[in-house]
Amino acid sequence: MKKLILITALTAFTFNAMAQDTLPEKQLEARQVAKQFLGSLKPELGKAMKSGGPVHAVGTCYEISPEIADKLTKSTGWNVNRVSLKPRATTASADSWETQTLQWFDAQAAAGKDVTKLEKFEIVKVDGQDTYRYMKAIPTGDVCLTCHGTAVPANVTAKILELYPDDKATGYHKGEIRGAFSFKQAAQ
Ligand code: HEC
Repeated sequence: MKKLILITALTAFTFNAMAQDTLPEKQLEARQVAKQFLGSLKPELGKAMKSGGPVHAVGTCYEISPEIADKLTKSTGWNVNRVSLKPRATTASADSWETQTLQWFDAQAAAGKDVTKLEKFEIVKVDGQDTYRYMKAIPTGDVCLTCHGTAVPANVTAKILELYPDDKATGYHKGEIRGAFSFKQAAQ
């Protein structure tokens, strides 16, 4: 019985918090999907780096990033992807809305905005269909530099080029926007 009351209280609290938030429901939903993506990928990357080093971890990213995106696309109802102005994966090149948004993120970062909070939500027409579009910036941290920085070790570069002959995703500095989560969904 006590448990039930606690759950009720927590639920009421959550609803109140949401009611006070003026952001569209779909934006809040997309935010959660971005959290899920990051929450699935980051621990796996960390584990792979620790257990097998960066060359091994390149292979892990290669395998699990598209898998996680596919899984979330199936489970959330959003088309889930990651994009960049300098992509590594061939599936990560940006369309025109994504390019504009990534450029806006870069400008915001250059203006000193908090890169961990940059996101964009909009309803845009895609082939005549109103579509929810959401992007969340992914900033470059220290751990990312081994594979995306200005001094990637030769053995890591070799592994990257073996899997991604057209790789453009190096030369980044800490704090720069590496890319973004990008989701879309047809509006009803
Ligand atoms: C061990 C090497 C390695 C490390 C460390 C690493 N990445 Fe990557 N990253 C990759 C590989 C490989 C891909 C391509 C995999 C894919 O997305 O299909 C990739 C792809 C990406 C993409 C998708 C866009 C693109 O260019 O393909 C983003 C965004 C990204 N990484 C951000 C980060 C961030 C942020 C960090 C640090 C938290 C990080 N990466 C650390 C290897 C790495």
